[in-house]
Amino acid sequence: MLQAAVETIQRIPAAAPRVALVLGSGLGGFASEVEGARRIPYVDIPGWPRSTAVGHAGELVLGTVSGVPVAVLSGRVHLYEGYTAREVAFATRVMGKLGVRTMLFTNAAGGLNLSYAQGSLVLIRDHINLMGENPCLGPNDDSLGPRFFDMTDAYSAELRSRILAKARELEIPLHEGVYLGLKGPNFETPAEIRFFGRIGADLVGMSTVPEVLAATHMGMRCAAISCVTNLAAGISGEKLSHDEVLETGVRVRATFVRLLKAILPEAAA
Ligand code: HPA
Repeated sequence: MLQAAVETIQRIPAAAPRVALVLGSGLGGFASEVEGARRIPYVDIPGWPRSTAVGHAGELVLGTVSGVPVAVLSGRVHLYEGYTAREVAFATRVMGKLGVRTMLFTNAAGGLNLSYAQGSLVLIRDHINLMGENPCLGPNDDSLGPRFFDMTDAYSAELRSRILAKARELEIPLHEGVYLGLKGPNFETPAEIRFFGRIGADLVGMSTVPEVLAATHMGMRCAAISCVTNLAAGISGEKLSHDEVLETGVRVRATFVRLLKAILPEAAA
């Protein structure tokens, strides 16, 4: 199934992507930044799962951004939609098979770290997988990667330091933190958030972890940036809503786009 998707994408006349950028909730508009864009609806790619979440389009956009040949994944699927971790990781694996060496993920997340505000951007330093899922479960596909694989540098320290330097240069505040991944679809309870804070989480969200696992399994380099769309449950005492998540995404969008455009060349280096 991976091969059929790869072949479909390779038939599109566009430069082979060096970097793939996965757009989280509300960031779909970034696809309009792609020069010489060739758009492929996900429905036209064999085996590619369709996003059902509001705020997620469903197309792959090939072209260049800041001179870098990219694949922009406008819309992703999540475990809470009922997809398996393997389905969630399908797109990442297709990117790996296409020859993409660096995956850049974005997502919306709830902030636990008290130094974050609504709208803060946070570079993920590491993750805690409490999804109870993993795209690498089952017989190992040796053509993808080894049975057991190391996660020490899953969020490349070298790439992170270049991204942080670029953010400083642009005077865009960029925090660093540990992302805790959950299946959702509910936002967490305040008691859960207190627990997650104690075990070292700075952020909580419902995506990215399966994709980073699949990418690291394949030996790809990853970086991920969260937009803190809301303070996590119980921190401000306010109720959480998806509308708030989308609204904050829209508010931060211009800054996020500026940062992403600046770091794409770093991700290609
Ligand atoms: N929790 C989980 N996922 C999220 C949140 C949250 O508070 N905000 C955006 N995605």
